[in-house]
Amino acid sequence: MKTSFPKDKIKAVLLEGVHEAGATMLADQGFQVERVAGSPPAEELATLLADAHLVGLRSKTQLRAPQLVGASRLLAVGCFCIGTDQVELDAARRAGVPVFNSPFGNTRSVAELTVAEIVLLCRRVFEKSTMMHAGVWDKSALGAREVRGRTIGIIGYGHIGSQVSVLAEALGMRVLFHDVVPKLALGNAQQAESLDAMLEAADIVTIHVPADASTERLLGEAEIARMPRGAILVNNARGRVVDLAAVKAAIESGHLAGGAFDVFPQEPRGRGEPFESELRGLSNVILTPHIGGSTLEAQEAIARDVATKLIKFVNIGSTTGAVNLPQVELPMQTGAGELARPHRVLHFHQNVPGVLSKINSALGAEGVNVRSQSLQTDGDIGYVVLDVDPSASEAALDSLHSIEETIRTRVLW
Ligand code: NAI
Repeated sequence: MKTSFPKDKIKAVLLEGVHEAGATMLADQGFQVERVAGSPPAEELATLLADAHLVGLRSKTQLRAPQLVGASRLLAVGCFCIGTDQVELDAARRAGVPVFNSPFGNTRSVAELTVAEIVLLCRRVFEKSTMMHAGVWDKSALGAREVRGRTIGIIGYGHIGSQVSVLAEALGMRVLFHDVVPKLALGNAQQAESLDAMLEAADIVTIHVPADASTERLLGEAEIARMPRGAILVNNARGRVVDLAAVKAAIESGHLAGGAFDVFPQEPRGRGEPFESELRGLSNVILTPHIGGSTLEAQEAIARDVATKLIKFVNIGSTTGAVNLPQVELPMQTGAGELARPHRVLHFHQNVPGVLSKINSALGAEGVNVRSQSLQTDGDIGYVVLDVDPSASEAALDSLHSIEETIRTRVLW
């Protein structure tokens, strides 16, 4: 008889120093948890993934199709961060492996850092501090500005962008934003007619868009040229959104008065590895090592959020919060009296016309009594969850395996 996979055989590999709250939650479920401090090189990653059922990572570890193919036991991926572009989502989707993230856990941390940097850049604080460390006393108001009354242009008015909007307005700034979709403007903020219109009006531009084809090099030479002379640029989103050679030229020519950059097209894999960038050594440019969301508060909130999603998927099959597969929210299976707690069969399949009737015919032919069925589809993939009589789960699995559209099945009790 096939059995629900024992919890103590489930191995979770947590990379990149995921907060211990996540490890504790998974261990409390009885899972084996292996923690790795950094992002391992390819060979070590392949070894770690070979027998892992769950993998948790942050922004450095790349999980592309070859790594996913090598991870034949993988049930789910947890991105303990906001972005998920480090995982080849479509490859995971085709394998029936849900990818979870934490869209809100570190929103406030990034917004706070962004606003703080804007104030420091407008006062040229880092430049002055660097001079002081070199023994130079340069008391002068030259180039120092208040932020009050100045215009901030926010590109991407999502979770972080809208929080920056609230904080900036509290400092007396005028807020303009650009987003590809119409957004509810908070407070007195205004959605600009176009990116160009926003760039031309903003003293300070801050970027909060995801990395995708539409945002690749969104800000290059032409866009920076539209910003007023003396403007400031902040990118705490993703490195490939900005052309750094164009930023360097604009800082050197004085067109940009400064900038802050937390993310880069190529980032070192871990602590201690050398950092190379054309922005090194430029005056009034703050460089930070992708720490926008890295506060203790955020790390713990993210760890709890993602661990909860992984546990719910392993234990009851819920895919709520999955970024690459249909989302099905499920209650715990319950049973009472003569009706024993049902077995739950999870089934990822190719969503082609007629597949559901094939599933139901196959189950009917085996005499499987289905107590409840939940289905969600998303494009070419479907996810159906069946609660069946305990005596019928083996027959249900066998009949589902015989359907050619089946991607993956699992049974839980
Ligand atoms: P979000 O998804 O809530 O907001 C993104 C916004 O950008 C959405 O409103 C969307 O409509 C808009 N957008 C998408 N494409 C656009 C385009 N081509 N032009 C204009 N607007 C566009 O994301 P959230 O939570 O605000 O995060 C933003 C980004 O910040 C993340 O995708 C991530 O890359 C980055 N991030 C960086 C961190 C760090 O440590 N530096 C930490 C957390 C997030």
